[in-house]
Amino acid sequence: MESSNQSRRQFLTKTSKAGIALATLPIITKITPASFVAVNEYQQQPLPYAYNALEPYIDALTMEIHYTKHAATYAKNLADASVAEKVDTASTSLVSLLKNISKYSPKMRNNAGGHYNHEFFWQSMTPKSSLKPEGKLLAQIEKDFGSFDAFKTKFADAGKTRFGSGWAWLVVSSDKKLVIGSTPNQDNPLMDVSELKGTPLLGLDVWEHAYYLRYQNKRPDYITAWWSVVNWDVVTKRFEEA
Ligand SMILES: [Fe+2]
Repeated sequence: MESSNQSRRQFLTKTSKAGIALATLPIITKITPASFVAVNEYQQQPLPYAYNALEPYIDALTMEIHYTKHAATYAKNLADASVAEKVDTASTSLVSLLKNISKYSPKMRNNAGGHYNHEFFWQSMTPKSSLKPEGKLLAQIEKDFGSFDAFKTKFADAGKTRFGSGWAWLVVSSDKKLVIGSTPNQDNPLMDVSELKGTPLLGLDVWEHAYYLRYQNKRPDYITAWWSVVNWDVVTKRFEEA
């Protein structure tokens, strides 16, 4: 178990990277490992790459607005809802909140989902994509969908056919099968209210705010381009831990 001093150093390093002025942080005299994790997962984390890093597939202006406006607002509204609905963010993991989301307000559902989904999405992309998984994940994809190309087609169809705003997902079901589906708005497969259920491995934001500046109404073109930036190393790690 790490010491509270180690946790504090990691906390300060992370917040410094996020560009948060330390002077604006609340004074925390004791940070336990448990509270360190919980406090941070309710907050927007630094983007793991520059706004222009995913060009030409995702343009810099879309990334900047998406991260600093849309996703930041979900995180802020989640913080407000957590206070209003008395969620102890030091002891309640975000995943457990999502698994019990039916007990909370629509505001909590939209913003806890919005915050979780976007943090998950940023981590799912990289400017140095391997373009394809390997090993056990690739074998499981081929077993459950026939081939990697068939998987991509089915996943893309889930994104294309999601009416309005929402997300396409690859999840591991409770019986350890890979399943593709989609959710409306900011719902996700962790939520008890979701028709699609499972442990998320990959999620694609198909809200217009994710692609409209470059692709306008051509959502299929955005989805085709997005395959070039998928972080298969992260997806593989999620698969191994599911
Ligand atoms: Fe989004």
